[in-house]
Amino acid sequence: VREIAIIGGTGEQGFGLALRWAQAEKRILIGSRDKDKAERAAQKLRQAVDSERANVEGVENGEGVQKNFKGGDLLIDVTVPLETAFGGQAARVFTPWRGSAAEQAAELVPPGVTVISAFHHLGANALQNLSQKIDCDIIVCGNSREGKESVKALIELIPGAGFVDGGPLENSRIVGALTALLISINIRYKVKNSGIRITGLNEQTNGQ
Ligand SMILES: NC(=O)c1ccc[n+]([C@@H]2O[C@H](COP(=O)([O-])OP(=O)(O)OC[C@H]3O[C@@H](n4cnc5c(N)ncnc54)[C@H](OP(=O)(O)O)[C@@H]3O)[C@@H](O)[C@H]2O)c1
Repeated sequence: VREIAIIGGTGEQGFGLALRWAQAEKRILIGSRDKDKAERAAQKLRQAVDSERANVEGVENGEGVQKNFKGGDLLIDVTVPLETAFGGQAARVFTPWRGSAAEQAAELVPPGVTVISAFHHLGANALQNLSQKIDCDIIVCGNSREGKESVKALIELIPGAGFVDGGPLENSRIVGALTALLISINIRYKVKNSGIRITGLNEQTNGQ
């Protein structure tokens, strides 16, 4: 992956991922509906990253990200469809028409774009706190083996995060629901970063 454009990169999760990948010296485009807001976030990112080679730019979503989106590109969907989207509870999921946000996205992207879902269980708070060691597996769902390999390479840039192949894109439905469970655990235990680890895996087979 040569360049990572993040739609909603000004938000908590997008900024957290941008921070981790900028730290690993990837080129980052922070996307926003508002170019000035994107540029402000890009400036904040440059200051936060401990690298003189930070390669970060703020862009308007349409011009900088969506217009240049083409076959061969990879879309990583991190969306968890929570009830909060329409005034409900954070610890409850709802089901989009196609089953999950990632499956919905797969219907909307241009031909040849691969959709993979990931990063649902690794929260923004942990991503943005560079001094805290991450302790979470990332369950990656999608129908392209190559796409999952690319996401695995991005996960490996985040110390403490582990790749787990979660099977086809439709399993994003299960992964999303687990996030709501983690949110309810966070509330009960008064923590911000509960995560998950999958045990008993064989490194050699890589799940594929
Ligand atoms: N926060 C977490 O810990 C976490 C963990 C796992 C997954 N996620 C998922 O990550 C996504 C973002 O969560 P977040 O916590 O980062 O939310 P957030 O802080 O509210 O940020 C969301 C960003 O999306 C953009 N946005 C909002 N409404 C939009 C719209 N109608 N069209 C286009 N862009 C829009 C906004 O950017 P502009 O105003 O700059 O356009 C905003 O900065 C959610 O789907 C969430 O389920 C979050």
